[in-house]
Amino acid sequence: MKKTVKDIIVKDKKVIVRCDFNVPMIDGAITDDTRIKAALPTIEYLIAEGAKVILMSHMGRPKGEPKMEFTLAPVAERLSQYLKKDVKFVSSPVVVDDSVKAAAENLASGEVLLIENVRFRKEETDNDPGFAKELASLAEIFVQDAFGTAHRAHASTAGIAEYLPCVSGFLIEKEVKFLGEAVEAPKRPFLAIMGGAKVGDKIPVIENLITKVDTLIIGGGMSYTFFKAMGLEIGKSILDEGNIGLAAELLKKAKDNGVEILLPVDVVTAAEFSNDAERVVVDFDKIPADREGMDIGPKTRELYGKAIAEAATVVWNGPMGVFELPNFAEGTKAVASYMADSDAVTIIGGGDSAAAVEQMGFADKMTHISTGGGASLEFLEGKELPGIAVIEDK
Ligand code: 3PG
Repeated sequence: MKKTVKDIIVKDKKVIVRCDFNVPMIDGAITDDTRIKAALPTIEYLIAEGAKVILMSHMGRPKGEPKMEFTLAPVAERLSQYLKKDVKFVSSPVVVDDSVKAAAENLASGEVLLIENVRFRKEETDNDPGFAKELASLAEIFVQDAFGTAHRAHASTAGIAEYLPCVSGFLIEKEVKFLGEAVEAPKRPFLAIMGGAKVGDKIPVIENLITKVDTLIIGGGMSYTFFKAMGLEIGKSILDEGNIGLAAELLKKAKDNGVEILLPVDVVTAAEFSNDAERVVVDFDKIPADREGMDIGPKTRELYGKAIAEAATVVWNGPMGVFELPNFAEGTKAVASYMADSDAVTIIGGGDSAAAVEQMGFADKMTHISTGGGASLEFLEGKELPGIAVIEDK
């Protein structure tokens, strides 16, 4: 068990909190503030306990330069609205300078300061000890609550813990509880649903889960690589050529472990990659040479729905088709809706599937939606994330 903010005294202490405020932005406006809302419980607790709260995060990938399109200013504004108090924001091109140090030093108990995007400094992603020390010099305690960035060993997520006592915030605690329990002590039957285009990205996850699940659904773009591995023709469907062999190995591994694998039995095909393309449903083994699979078909939706209804734990990562084109989003929608209707423990593993569930209005019907994309995948792979490893044990 890891220590949390509840295991230490924070009153009148300067507490620096690593959050993941890497939110999507268009023209300087935040388009989805889920990650900001997810950070609030820890921040509100620290304010209520009388800590002097210093927040830090990255935004995007400015590659070590102070590019102002990646400033955290809009985040400070949104935080002020949610917390109903002024969040001081001191923007420095070098993240920590004398004005930032003074602002941290002059914080009163219960006040909140946000510092600038830590990736304005190259030393952040290099996990440079000098920069970690600079960040640490602002505070007396480090609270790690950036689950979405916990798979990165950077100065603000890992290095800083060399210089300050480190405990977790409530978001990390919650993510570890739900993702950890789902994988290590699942209620059975345990069903994992893997989608998305690239088999390569999901192989380590599938390899880990295949020893734990009762049933594995494979949908989305990567099913075609599995079909190819089974010797089937896939027309113009997306193929992860370099991983056909691995797909074959995974099918064998599933068989050896007594895991049932469900692949699409029918697919919605199109002659070109366009929302307006004519949709033709074909059986999985009859994809014409001049068409590509874009979504799972109606028989597959029913099959997957039945598997979801029978499961006691469902973990889902990756869309079932090209869900960004509305005419090919039916399969992804169906899976989200079957999960929303199920009484099982339902976990959404971040990234595209989390966005799909939010967009479709099913978010409050799920047991847990992870705020981590890459982080939740690495967690499901069974890896220890560097940003979590640094948190002190109880
Ligand atoms: C994410 O959005 O997955 C995290 O914020 C990490 O961002 P990164 O992939 O740029 O490290």
